[in-house]
Amino acid sequence: MSTSPSKDTSSNPQAAVNIPRHLLGMEHLSKEQILHHLDTARTFVEVSRRPVRKVPALKGKTVINLFCEPSTRTRTSFELAGKRLSADVVNISQAASSLTKGESLLDTCKTLEALHPDVVVLRHPASGAADFVASQVRFSVVNAGDGMHEHPTQALLDAFTIRERLGTLKGLKVAICGDILHSRVARSNAWLLRTMGSEVCFAGPRPLLPPHPIWPDVPMYDRLEPALEGADVVMVLRIQRERLKSASLSSLEEYARLFGLGPRQLLFAKPGALIMHPGPINRGVEIDPRVADGPQSVILDQVEAGLATRMATLYLLAGNHES
Ligand code: CP
Repeated sequence: MSTSPSKDTSSNPQAAVNIPRHLLGMEHLSKEQILHHLDTARTFVEVSRRPVRKVPALKGKTVINLFCEPSTRTRTSFELAGKRLSADVVNISQAASSLTKGESLLDTCKTLEALHPDVVVLRHPASGAADFVASQVRFSVVNAGDGMHEHPTQALLDAFTIRERLGTLKGLKVAICGDILHSRVARSNAWLLRTMGSEVCFAGPRPLLPPHPIWPDVPMYDRLEPALEGADVVMVLRIQRERLKSASLSSLEEYARLFGLGPRQLLFAKPGALIMHPGPINRGVEIDPRVADGPQSVILDQVEAGLATRMATLYLLAGNHES
């Protein structure tokens, strides 16, 4: 991941940026707030490349990661982010918590509140879970993915990756391909990218496209090629095997044939277009290994960006509020 100067600047760099208490989604974040987050993340990239990967920014602060769904990237990077900022970090997974004994999410969060955390990072299968918790507690809440709703730090790390590579988010064509209907990644990215002046389009099997578009001006295609045409960035989403039947596709092979991104399909995009995937990848299904591991792929840059971006998230939230 390079960190070259960016062409995107805040409309008023001197103006104080209002930092929301919670990070629940990209829908209500302004361009200035997004740029401030990305610029803050940029200052943290270097910390993880030092021999001693730690700064005292959040010494004395407490971060709890409460994950009620599996995760590798988001959970690990939030844990490392907190530790590299010197916060006290506690990790809770649903399977090892009293949620398995029938305790409600609210009672769990009220219990955590009594322990005075500064930030709770929540991943939950229910859309709206993070908003609900945020409305009931005193600590800051970070939505680490809630059902089919939003995954704001994924969108921020994706934006960070694009901006570092292409220098701007303005005026780009970004094709988001796969299971759009169920994807919180697609939603958060669409909110962010549109706010920043990118042109977004979606492609996927018709039953996996939203029946009632949130953004009537976002083109939706039931074939890959028109979406890829002239794209600066191609985001490939993971196909969730359990959804193939509802998409009227008989097999992974059929999905791979119709919607898999291979070297031949890639020719429709702009030469050198960035290839992104939030992970985890189904190799040979939604993306051909030659593309996933090819020179245009920035998939591992996204992972590295995730750490710096989540350091920024924790720093901005825990560093700005007294709990
Ligand atoms: N992209 C993403 O959220 O990955 P994990 O489920 O591994 O955290």
